[in-house]
Amino acid sequence: MSNIVIIGAQWGDEGKGKIVDMLAPDVDAVVRFQGGHNAGHTVSVGGRTYKLKLIPSGILHKNKICLVGNGVVLDPREFCAEMDALLAEGLDLGPERLKISRKCHLVLPYHQALDRTREAARGGDKIGTTGRGIGPCYEDKAARAGIRACDLEDFDLLGRKIRDALKEKNALLAGLYGQKALDPETLIEELKPVAARLAPYLADVSEELSRIEAGGGRIMFEGAQGVHLDIDHGTYPYVTSSNTVAGNAAAGAGIAPSRLHRVIGVAKAYTTRVGSGAFPTELTGETGQYIQKKGTEFGTVTGRKRRCGWLDAVVLRESARLCGVNDFALTKLDVLSGLPEVKICTEYAYRGRRIPYPPQAEKGLAEVEPVYESLPGWQEDLSSARVFSDLPEAARNFVARLEALTGVPVGMISVGANREQTVMRCLNLHSAPPAV
Ligand code: IMP
Repeated sequence: MSNIVIIGAQWGDEGKGKIVDMLAPDVDAVVRFQGGHNAGHTVSVGGRTYKLKLIPSGILHKNKICLVGNGVVLDPREFCAEMDALLAEGLDLGPERLKISRKCHLVLPYHQALDRTREAARGGDKIGTTGRGIGPCYEDKAARAGIRACDLEDFDLLGRKIRDALKEKNALLAGLYGQKALDPETLIEELKPVAARLAPYLADVSEELSRIEAGGGRIMFEGAQGVHLDIDHGTYPYVTSSNTVAGNAAAGAGIAPSRLHRVIGVAKAYTTRVGSGAFPTELTGETGQYIQKKGTEFGTVTGRKRRCGWLDAVVLRESARLCGVNDFALTKLDVLSGLPEVKICTEYAYRGRRIPYPPQAEKGLAEVEPVYESLPGWQEDLSSARVFSDLPEAARNFVARLEALTGVPVGMISVGANREQTVMRCLNLHSAPPAV
């Protein structure tokens, strides 16, 4: 076992940043393969909290190579701002350890303008996007009208592409939506210093990965968002615009699928969702507020309150099936302490039947009724637990039920934001996960 893919098994915000940070010592390189600065990965180390959006979470570890794969959409100005924040913390961000694929598509101001304008125009039927321009950038990629990181090395071409792109975008922005048109020359001028700064970081990421592997190195693929926000398999249209499933680690980084050896699905001990879309186990009353407050469930990128609900084994079962999850990393189990009972949704009632997987019709998920199993809660503070037997029996039972309902072992359990607040049940990442 060598290369590991980390994915979010719910609707994002599962705590992937902490898991990547914890496992980083075991690998030589960390690569992002999809999404953009809609992602917000929070990592707490030594009393400091780092909020990463585009730069892989492995950057907090010395000597780890961090790569931004071709499947990522990269806002070059945002990337520079993130670099500045990390440099101010004294981190080493030399081009020998931080690399950007030349094939990444660039998120530019017109993408953000369109994202926000379209959301506003949707009125009560919003997707609830992060407003970062992610969807419009992936649209341009699919339309073969995108601007890529390699274009920063050819300013004549970049200029021509931006002028062309703005003819169409301005027709939409100003003509259709009544917004201010954007000036291509201003944008081109703004990109000059950014292009100069990023030039040393541009690389052939696929080639870098094969070089790392040839030297015996191990790679971790850091997913963003979650499986149920996947453009194909998520709760369409309330999804993000990239494939978040583990299989996209291959296409989005430029590595063969046979080089993905183990998939860890990160899942919170409850469920959260930001933005619109059906959420069968959502708790709109006091218990939801308790979890929201205790779990400080606010979006890293937008600061929006996250909707909270019970753990949903249907959602996790589907993530396990779609991604071949070998083991779950269960996060925020400590947040559930203090509740008299905890619930797990085991299946859905849907049009007179019980179903173990989400329905496929667009409005199907909004129709289901969750079928719950209620388990006794626990009152103990879990934050100092380090081995499984440190957890109270009720918490151990909760974990065991999740394993039984999904058929996937829980390899590690996070009981607090810091690195050390973790129960490792599967100590050697390169051996087989524990049996259920
Ligand atoms: P977009 O990715 O900004 O287009 O937003 C589409 C949907 O994905 C919205 O519901 C967002 O709230 C959600 N989303 C995007 N990125 C994240 C994330 O990192 N965590 C949780 N939800 C996200």
